Amino acid sequence: MDLSNRVAVVTGSSSGIGLASAELFRKEGAVVVGVARHATPEARAAVGPQGRFIEADVSATGALPALFAEVERSLGKIDVLLVNAAVVKLTPLSETTPELFDEVVATNLRGAFFTLRAAIPHLKDGASVIFTTSYLNRIGFPGASVVSMTKAGLRALVRVAAAELGSRSIRVNALCPGAIATPLWSKLGLPADVLESAGAEITRQIPLGRWGSAAEVARAALFLASASSAYVNGIELGIDGGLRQV
Ligand SMILES: NC(=O)c1ccc[n+]([C@@H]2O[C@H](COP(=O)([O-])OP(=O)(O)OC[C@H]3O[C@@H](n4cnc5c(N)ncnc54)[C@H](OP(=O)(O)O)[C@@H]3O)[C@@H](O)[C@H]2O)c1
Repeated sequence: MDLSNRVAVVTGSSSGIGLASAELFRKEGAVVVGVARHATPEARAAVGPQGRFIEADVSATGALPALFAEVERSLGKIDVLLVNAAVVKLTPLSETTPELFDEVVATNLRGAFFTLRAAIPHLKDGASVIFTTSYLNRIGFPGASVVSMTKAGLRALVRVAAAELGSRSIRVNALCPGAIATPLWSKLGLPADVLESAGAEITRQIPLGRWGSAAEVARAALFLASASSAYVNGIELGIDGGLRQV
């Protein structure tokens, strides 16, 4: 699945699925622009010498138009946009504060929406746009109300964006990971024993009997990014070992 000479922008590229996707896109020939708040050595290495890492917070939506204008000015129009940056905070409904709600929405929904909004003038006709949603938008996972709402919102956005951008032959799809072993889980702030038992309970529900890896999700992202998926549009592709499919 060749991405030679394609310009690919990946948000949330400093860790997990975004990092693995940036690396894979580069290996497949793309010039990759990674975006995240922290310029880790891994994040810089993933984009390689031809690419660029831009330290930015997608919740600061006012800065996004200039970011994408700079990408086009330096590298040309964008062929692939992976809108992947997100934060996950778990809290019961009764304990959810307006501050937590706003923090999660600011990155996962508002940030994702305005990432696409800002990128639109800089997308090449025929580009592929991919949003990372989550299996959480299909279930009632206690404590995940705000995160699940943001991911359900992105599923809806994918449909509308596919309808609006189809006239420019731009495809818009969602990548929907199940339980994937990334640093995300350690950022939840859960005690180790709670994390372990929750993880075991999720594993029991996965037909393949194991969690996925960031590299496995990246391969699905590559499929949606490449010409291999030229007639795939508006879908949400589950990469979950069957977790939400059976
Ligand atoms: N892992 C799973 O089991 C799983 C399951 C379903 C869906 N997902 C989704 O998959 C995507 C990637 O998750 P992951 O597991 O790879 O998580 P991760 O390892 O925590 O990576 C999240 C990435 O988002 C970036 N990010 C967070 N807030 C940002 C902001 N305001 N501006 C710019 N970048 C920001 C982080 O970098 P900085 O901190 O450096 O900014 C990091 O690079 C997310 O959309 C997540 O919801 C993951």
